[in-house]
Amino acid sequence: MSKIETLLRLANDADMMALRQNLVMDPNYQHWLDDFDVETQKLWVFGDPAIGFILLQIVLDEAEIIMLWVTPHLRGKGLAGAALKQLLEILRADNIKTVFLEVAKDNIAAIKIYEKASFLTLSIRKQYYKRNNDDYCDAIVMRAAI
Ligand SMILES: CC(C)(COP(=O)(O)OP(=O)(O)OC[C@H]1O[C@@H](n2cnc3c(N)ncnc32)[C@H](O)[C@@H]1OP(=O)(O)O)[C@@H](O)C(=O)NCCC(=O)NCCS
Repeated sequence: MSKIETLLRLANDADMMALRQNLVMDPNYQHWLDDFDVETQKLWVFGDPAIGFILLQIVLDEAEIIMLWVTPHLRGKGLAGAALKQLLEILRADNIKTVFLEVAKDNIAAIKIYEKASFLTLSIRKQYYKRNNDDYCDAIVMRAAI
């Protein structure tokens, strides 16, 4: 396979359509696109056609990564890490000073990416996510000063 284009761009209609097709394979994340609020959020995508996205909210000089997603069959190739690195460069150039996010404690791949990008744990939200069989998972709130 040729190298996947990871240059970040803001989503257009064709990107939304491509992402929706990819999300059929991972329907638990479909709602992030359905609920995308163009007034308050930014949707960055990568791949052509789009194979992943970063959903972001910015208030003054703070940003929050709401979701980072890569289509399942292309995971483990460094795409999310590369996209996040670019995003932080874009935000830095936009004078954003702090970036927050929240990640489930059992989401090892995501935590690895965030730690590599200099995110540090700010706090733990105990039993924040409900899992199957009345099981709960803590959420980790992370912050990066950029
Ligand atoms: C999390 C997610 C974005 C990662 O995307 P990706 O393109 O596969 O990530 P990358 O390839 O850049 O990096 C994954 C890293 O985690 C590691 N990893 C992946 N699965 C792992 C596992 N089960 N245990 C330990 N490490 C794991 C990889 O080896 C890699 O680390 P490395 O760079 O040191 O080799 C992707 O799995 C995804 O879309 N998940 C569903 C949505 C999600 O959970 N988003 C995060 C919400 S906070």
